[in-house]
Amino acid sequence: MTLQTDIPTGDDLIAEIERLRKERNAVILAHYYQAPHIQDLADFVGDSLELSRKAADTDADVIAFCGVKFMADTAKILSPDKIVVLPDLDAGCSLEDSCPPEKFRAFREKHPDHIALTYINCSTEVKALSDVIVTSSSAETIISQIPEDQKIIFGPDRHLGGYMSRKFNREMLLWPGVCIVHEAFSETELLKLKQQHPGAPVAAHPECPPTIIDHADYVGSTSGILQYAETFKGDTLIVATEPHIIHQMEKALPDKTFIGAPGADGNCACNICPYMALNTLPKLYTALRDLEPRIEIEEGLRLKAKQSLDRMLEMASGTIGKGDLGRV
Ligand code: 13P
Ligand code: SF4
Repeated sequence: MTLQTDIPTGDDLIAEIERLRKERNAVILAHYYQAPHIQDLADFVGDSLELSRKAADTDADVIAFCGVKFMADTAKILSPDKIVVLPDLDAGCSLEDSCPPEKFRAFREKHPDHIALTYINCSTEVKALSDVIVTSSSAETIISQIPEDQKIIFGPDRHLGGYMSRKFNREMLLWPGVCIVHEAFSETELLKLKQQHPGAPVAAHPECPPTIIDHADYVGSTSGILQYAETFKGDTLIVATEPHIIHQMEKALPDKTFIGAPGADGNCACNICPYMALNTLPKLYTALRDLEPRIEIEEGLRLKAKQSLDRMLEMASGTIGKGDLGRV
C-alpha cells in the first residue's frame, strides 16, 4: 500500500527522487504534456511513439511513467520484465474512455472485411482487438503502406482519423471518440488571436477538430510541432495543442514568442489535460519509493496487444524524429 506520509518538500523532494532513481535503477519517462518541473526532471521527454520506443529499449529495472495510463500500459506491454509505475493510476484519457472493448469488438464483428488501425490512445484490450496501432507521428507512414483496396476502421479519435481520411482521400470507418483537450479550442477565439498577431503561423495537433486544422499552417504530433517551432519563419507561433509543450519551445528558443491557442472562454486553461495533471512530484516520489501504483497485465492479453504494437514499430521504423504530417 502506498503511504502518503513523510513526503519531503522543496529541494529535499527533488534530492529524494534523485536518490530513489539511482537506488531503483529507474528511468523517468515524461510526455510533453506534463508540467514543466516534471519534464525537467525526466531522463527522457517525448511523444507517444518516441516514449514507446524508449520503453522498449531501456535497460533500467524500473520505468516511472509520467504520462497517462495507456502510455504506461504500452511500456509494460513492450517491457514485461520491468516494473512500470504510474504516479497516479487515475491518469486516464477521454479517447480511451470513448472506446469500451466490448463495443469495439462488436463494431469489428459488423465489419469483418475491414482492418482496424487504432490510435495508441486506447486500452490494452482494444489494442489486442486491433491489427495495427498508430500514433500521430506514425499514422501517415503506416496508412501509406496499406493497399488502397483494403477497407479500414480507424479509432478511437475521429479527428485524427478524419484528418488522415482527407489527406489520403480515402474513406475510413471512424470511431466517434475525441480528445476533450483538443476539442476545447475555439475557432472564434483563434481567429481573434490571429488578428492580434498578423502573420503568426498556427501549429496544430491532428486531434484538433477541422475548424482548428483548417487554420493551421502546420499539422503534426507533439514532436513534429516542436520541430516546426525550430524552423518557422517569424518570431511568434500560435500553438494548438496542450500548452505544457510550450515549455520545451521556450527553453530551446528563448527569443521567440509562443502563444497557446485559446479555448471557448478565450483562456487556454481549459486546454490543460486534466489526466496528465494528476501526476505530481510527491506522487512520483511515492511511486519510486513504494514501486506502486504498478502496471500489471495478464500475459495472454499482453501478447495479443503486443502484436499490433510490434506491427506499428516495424511499419513506422524510420519515422522517429520526423513526426511531420504536413498539411492537407
Ligand atoms: P503525441 O505526443 O504522440 O502527439 O500524442 C498526443 C497526445 O494527446 C497524447 O495523449
Ligand atoms: Fe487523452 Fe487528450 Fe489528455 Fe492526450 S491530451 S491524454 S488524448 S485527454
